[in-house]
Amino acid sequence: MLQGKKIILGITGSIAAYKSAFLTRLLVREGAEVKIILTPYGKEFITPVTLATLSKNTVITDFFNHDDGSWNSHVDLGIWADALLIAPATANTMAKMANGIADNLLLTTYFSARCPVIIVPAMDLDMFRHPATLKNMELLRSYGNFIIEPTTGELASGLEGKGRMEEPEKIVEWLKDHFKKKSRFSGKRVLITAGPTHEKIDPVRFIGNYSSGKMGYAIAAAFANEGASVELVSGPVQISLNNPSVNIHKVTSAEEMNRSASALFPAMDIVVFAAAVADYKPEKQSLSKIRRTGNAMVINLVPNEDIAGKLGRQRLENQLLVGFALESENGETNAFKKLTEKNLDMIVLNNMNVPGAGFNVDTNKIIVIGKDNNQKEFELKSKDDVAKDIINEIFNLMINRSYA
Ligand code: CTP
Repeated sequence: MLQGKKIILGITGSIAAYKSAFLTRLLVREGAEVKIILTPYGKEFITPVTLATLSKNTVITDFFNHDDGSWNSHVDLGIWADALLIAPATANTMAKMANGIADNLLLTTYFSARCPVIIVPAMDLDMFRHPATLKNMELLRSYGNFIIEPTTGELASGLEGKGRMEEPEKIVEWLKDHFKKKSRFSGKRVLITAGPTHEKIDPVRFIGNYSSGKMGYAIAAAFANEGASVELVSGPVQISLNNPSVNIHKVTSAEEMNRSASALFPAMDIVVFAAAVADYKPEKQSLSKIRRTGNAMVINLVPNEDIAGKLGRQRLENQLLVGFALESENGETNAFKKLTEKNLDMIVLNNMNVPGAGFNVDTNKIIVIGKDNNQKEFELKSKDDVAKDIINEIFNLMINRSYA
């Protein structure tokens, strides 16, 4: 599965760097072409000679060769690679990656990379669970990078806890799995609506909702990582996603979302309506700020278009449409009703009453309901993992349809 794959292995300054020698050997044995970039601190832990011998390639450590003046182009490296694997990744390197600091060759290559980036942290348990490290990892994930979490056990410090770099065999398995899945949706065009909409009352106020957009963005990233080309029509959110396979169309109101999604819709193979679209908007928008009068105020609301409903009526036979339903009671019944009314193939039910599910949290618990009311319930998971479950279900639908 790794035959001919071009992999840059970045090694940073951690005692776990010795495992990278085994990792290199395994990658080469699987047929991968491995180029190693060693950071200045990485060099303190493992020698370039060992790594050059195992990788059968020169190890790159500096921007310039001081003897002959030649330089190592991080841009060329970033374009060359099918994957950039950083193992071990220290808290320091992750902090720099998360915050745009590019003061060594591995970091400049990271910022130029167009390929999937896989980060394998290794550090002491307290460093790992420090809020700064956790926040940086969350940022790195939101940029579309993958993190292979450390395991729990004895650490170099003698302490016990989470921080041990994952074993080389497991990292190689992860990569093989990644490349296998990568092409599942290749050639597929996917449209996703995500986030809330803001319905303007006057120049300084709007009607909105608590949707963070995390679920829709996680689905966009999951599809892109498996080869799809994604159009993400996003309401106002605080998330950044930097994935070359995701085109983001930023909108504010339901009307703008409707316009943008409708224009893209006919060319799409798969559509996921994950946005929390406002059902109503103020009938009139005041051009100037509405003043306080001390009296009660009435804002007349008129309905917005049901985007999923409208596009469901216009659907082409080969398209696959997936909706979401956020329900506070009679979840399964209401969700199935929405699936039928909106002419969808599948609906993902979020139950508002389950702690840790729904809006503005990092986790979700879903039930996936199909056209014949078949239901599949999933555990409470991170939204990234829920996204993977959802696209697995969509893949199954795609396969079943092609055999039907
Ligand atoms: N949806 C949409 N456009 C709208 C409202 C909803 O595209 N104006 C989509 C959502 O993205 C979701 C599905 O329709 O995929 C169901 O949304 P939900 O808000 O749960 O249902 P509604 O149809 O709005 O019904 P209600 O608010 O009465 O529950």
